[in-house]
Amino acid sequence: MPIIQSITAREIINSKAVPTVETTVALSDGTIVTGSCPTGTSIGSYEATDLRDGDENRYGGKGVLKAVANIKTTIAQAIVGKEIQNFSDIDKILLELDATQNKSVLGANAILSVSITVARACARSAKMPLYKYLHHYLKQQTNLRIPTPIFNIINGGEHAGNNVDFQEFMVIPASSMTFSSGLLMCTNVYHALKNTLKKNSLTTLVGDEGGFGPTFPKNTDALAMLKKAIDTTSAKFGYDIFFGLDVASNSFYHEHAYHIKDNPNPMSTNEIISYFREINKEYALVYLEDPLAEDDWDGWSALCKEQGQDTLIVGDDLTATNPYRLQIAINKKAITGIIIKPNQIGTVLESLAVVEVARAAGLKIIVSHRSGETNDDFIADFAVATAADYVKFGAPARGERIAKYNRLLAIEEEILAATKKT
Ligand code: PGA
Ligand code: ZN
Repeated sequence: MPIIQSITAREIINSKAVPTVETTVALSDGTIVTGSCPTGTSIGSYEATDLRDGDENRYGGKGVLKAVANIKTTIAQAIVGKEIQNFSDIDKILLELDATQNKSVLGANAILSVSITVARACARSAKMPLYKYLHHYLKQQTNLRIPTPIFNIINGGEHAGNNVDFQEFMVIPASSMTFSSGLLMCTNVYHALKNTLKKNSLTTLVGDEGGFGPTFPKNTDALAMLKKAIDTTSAKFGYDIFFGLDVASNSFYHEHAYHIKDNPNPMSTNEIISYFREINKEYALVYLEDPLAEDDWDGWSALCKEQGQDTLIVGDDLTATNPYRLQIAINKKAITGIIIKPNQIGTVLESLAVVEVARAAGLKIIVSHRSGETNDDFIADFAVATAADYVKFGAPARGERIAKYNRLLAIEEEILAATKKT
């Protein structure tokens, strides 16, 4: 078994010009790998916390030199010289070292950056692709397949400087399609949308996740425009391509009401549930993420009961990749799907545990990027390894998004070649 020979870290910047942590690990067998962690913008209250320096003279207080120092000192002292059988040995040490629920001592950014890098080092040392290594670790019985992609092609909310309340308007290929054909179809739709926006004299500038960021009088106008764009392609809406929304409703929930431009008055929970019912009548959403605020539990249960048969009701800020929040959601029958973002909880090991509990409860698994990303493609392998149902990595545009989609293309090719051999 190899030994961790050295670990070092550095402050880098992410796709939103915000600092994040990158780690390099060297093993005694000559393996040297690097990994980094993402950062959210619309961050739920129940997420693990990144450690930020708070020095206003550097990056507006968002520097991560303290998190980097934690890796170089506390974490290095605890793990350098350790023999590693599995990545989980190191994750357990990290969890003991921090010993808080929200990773506030060492910082979730420090911990996850190390966790990802160690997992990658273990796979490399075992001479296995990362997805296969994690798949073996999980003793997954399922055949390897690429999850169905969810492409966020109109950005709003906190992810774009426009006036749209909902954060993400997404297109989703039919699950029966291969990953590469779904990518092809949705990329065509992305280009068609650009043309349609231009024809309507709307901006084609993009938001944080690579989707376009036009302004619209109402949120539903974005769906209408998207439908118009799809109709100019060979894709058939409702047959091979579907709509999804990440409402990210925490961002417009104030004083116990939902404030969106589609309605002149703030909406109660019941009113916004009826509003989703109307949207569903027209567009038959297959996917609805964070439709209600993170503590509106009764609303979630009611919505799930009413619309959960036809639409995947997905918790992101609600569940925060947190086992306690997930358990509440299961008990309250509040969701039918869960977003998995490793940096919401802090380690690869804990993220895998949340996936297993969610799957045992019959929930669909959606592995997701963050709005502030690096070119690290760890989550692509993670999604395949965990046999996730969906991946959500943004638009098929911008380097930090396509790093993940392109990794999935390579994995798809490998899996196909392996099946042909057997
Ligand atoms: P975030 O957005 O990374 O800003 O949280 C992604 C999402 O809400 O799904
Ligand atoms: Zn979300």
